[in-house]
Amino acid sequence: TTVAWDPISAAKGGYKHFMQKEIFEQPRTTTDTLRGRVDIEHGRVTLEGLALSEEQLAQIEQIHAVACGTAWHACLVLKYFVESLARTPVEVDYASEFRYRSPVLRPNSLLLALTQSGETVDTLAAMAEARQQGIPTLGILNAIGSQASRLADGGVIYIHAGPEIAVASTKVFTGMLMAGYLLALQIAQAKGILTPAQMQTHLQSLIELPGKISLLLKDTSLYDHLAEQYHHVTDMLFLGRWVNAPIALEGALKMKEISYIHAEGYPAGEMKHGPIALIDERMPVVCIATRDPVYEKMLSNIEQVRARGGRVIALINPEDTQIREKADHIIEVPSTTPLLSSILNTIPLQLFSYAMALRRGADVDQPRNLAKSVTVE
Ligand code: G6P
Repeated sequence: TTVAWDPISAAKGGYKHFMQKEIFEQPRTTTDTLRGRVDIEHGRVTLEGLALSEEQLAQIEQIHAVACGTAWHACLVLKYFVESLARTPVEVDYASEFRYRSPVLRPNSLLLALTQSGETVDTLAAMAEARQQGIPTLGILNAIGSQASRLADGGVIYIHAGPEIAVASTKVFTGMLMAGYLLALQIAQAKGILTPAQMQTHLQSLIELPGKISLLLKDTSLYDHLAEQYHHVTDMLFLGRWVNAPIALEGALKMKEISYIHAEGYPAGEMKHGPIALIDERMPVVCIATRDPVYEKMLSNIEQVRARGGRVIALINPEDTQIREKADHIIEVPSTTPLLSSILNTIPLQLFSYAMALRRGADVDQPRNLAKSVTVE
């Protein structure tokens, strides 16, 4: 007798979809991004792919980060990392806008391109623009040997997440954030902004993340319950502040990409300048409210949503008491440092959009009208 063997389902390794597999791979992929780059004992980071010396890194006065889609959200998070840790200003651009706005690129600046495929046409064009203006380009990439890897004269930081098959990016997004954090530390180290002891503390928190991601993946039944209750909604709002504002944008993007629910992500402080008009009892509002310097602000934003009848799904830390009482549903996220909460908060939003798409019967891995990489303008 013969056993039917289907190479596609074999590649999914027992998971229903590539997206689900890739979400569950994240404890390993985030470990792989760190491998060989972190020296905890001496409080040092070494990104092996950089073509820029420590002296050159120390001289960088401005970073221009460019990307498209999910990678653009990673640029927004990276801005918080680099500005907080390395005190170096970061300007973020959509790659599709960059070259058309005649960007002013000063000497001692660096173009940072984030791209999973390394083949996104707009991102490549932004790299070419920087090159033409004599500015070095550095890539945070996943696919090996891409066009972007050849253009990146300042070097390449590979995420090492392995192939990402699902169109909606998951493990590459968290990988880009891990790599972005390492880069921020590497620049801080080059500029002498963080002492080895401070570097050790940051690195310790970073290496604890993969274990905390495992905890988030342990029991996902909560997301099935949420999907059961909310799969019929037509609109959703995602709110966050500070480093978690871009995570709200990414949560909304994932939801619309794979479940086709209209979702908007907003920095919570901007809510009263528009989106609050949409809030009623039919509108679930996902609020990222883990402990950070803007926790109290987030708390009052949640009260404003509740006062208008909105349904609140809140991401909180296990020890939280205040928001726990106010939310309709809570999702517990392990505690970490405020900056690194962005990486952990991403995981529940991936799981939620996956559960919603599944419940709505959508084609999770191949959403309509979307491509894994956009190689034409
Ligand atoms: C497409 C994909 C997204 C991805 C974006 C950028 O829109 O569907 O998942 O984030 O391209 O792709 P890149 O390969 O440059 O990271």
